[in-house]
Amino acid sequence: MSRSVGILGLALLLAACGGGGEGVDPPPLGGGSGNGQLPDPASAPALRTVLATRMGVVNFPVGAAVELPSAGSFRTPLLLKHFNSITAENAMKPDALWPNAAGSSTLPAPSPDFRGADQLVTFAANNNIRVRGHTLLWHQTTPTWMVSGSRIQVQQNLRTYITAVMQHFPNVYAWDVVNEVASDTPNAANPYRTASPWYQAYSQAGAEGRDYVVDAFMIAGQVRAQMGRPNIRLMLNDYNTELPGKRANVLAIVRDVIDAGAPIDGVGHQFHLQVGADVAQVTAALQAVEAASSTLENHVTELDVSIYADPGDCFSQRTIPPCLADLGASAPQSVLTQQALLYRALFAAFNRPSVTSISFWGIADDHTWLNTFPVARTNRPLLFDTAGNPKWAFWTVVDPNITPP
Ligand code: GLA
Repeated sequence: MSRSVGILGLALLLAACGGGGEGVDPPPLGGGSGNGQLPDPASAPALRTVLATRMGVVNFPVGAAVELPSAGSFRTPLLLKHFNSITAENAMKPDALWPNAAGSSTLPAPSPDFRGADQLVTFAANNNIRVRGHTLLWHQTTPTWMVSGSRIQVQQNLRTYITAVMQHFPNVYAWDVVNEVASDTPNAANPYRTASPWYQAYSQAGAEGRDYVVDAFMIAGQVRAQMGRPNIRLMLNDYNTELPGKRANVLAIVRDVIDAGAPIDGVGHQFHLQVGADVAQVTAALQAVEAASSTLENHVTELDVSIYADPGDCFSQRTIPPCLADLGASAPQSVLTQQALLYRALFAAFNRPSVTSISFWGIADDHTWLNTFPVARTNRPLLFDTAGNPKWAFWTVVDPNITPP
């Protein structure tokens, strides 16, 4: 899928969110809500506290993707209350951190530009929030200098980049070393995405295109060792692992990395889901990683639940139809209820020891890539509404006994 979210000010979002700030979190509400009304937002427990208790892990990472803060107005009550991990929505992608030199498509800027990402990392450090690194390599955000020149040059570029970035952000707890390297089409002979500038650059003169994935993990492992930070998790991140065919490709690549002796700590499942998603297949994705090696972890990295159960050709055609018609600003309660019940089932499915981090792709419904992908249309995929108030989906996650109307 081709995805890119424009930079909206996080300040704008957070200013709109309200939220409870730090302080004593009330316990989850017990029992059903009864009257069909949403519980009082002021009684909302902190998501991160509820999940830490449920997962049995102190400070269990509960994350959200966020954009750059705007100077002077970076207020974060909702983020601070509910989350303890952030992912840079765009600021840590390769084309943001180390673009081409001005006027050149083959030369890197003289040095990386960490200023944007540094703002996020500083904010996180000041607020006791951890950072998931996303991502060291993605075909959609590769500056052309990285894949220019001979195969040996490209390998060297990969080493230069990964070394500089990992060393600059020593406190990142997990890196998506590679993002979306698997083919969408089930293919046991070649499970890799071939329409990738990395695959193409490595394929020069008949060489094996897929080798860049093992190289990336090898390099990241070496840098991690040099840094003396063995706990940095090195992950392979991809979407649609809940679909058996795509999952087979992802797992085949994981096995290639393991067989090559490169360090890999687990799989990041984006889990960009739709209402109507099959939770059994989500569980199967987590189990498949556990079965590949008992040492592998599962991270949920980009969770959201679209309120549209679009057919598959929506994502290739990106028009309405086949994509479902815009539901408008006020999503029907029936859809929000369906979404809430799915979220409840998902968090039950995530409750297994291999799941060591859960992140959403956004905080609240006023800032989501799904308002423009796969078509421009109002979407409501997260746990908090456009004003930052907890939705039914929030309440069913924090208290599975709550029944939405
Ligand atoms: C993919 C990428 C993310 C983000 C989302 C949505 O899932 O991994 O970085 O770009 O698409 O835009």
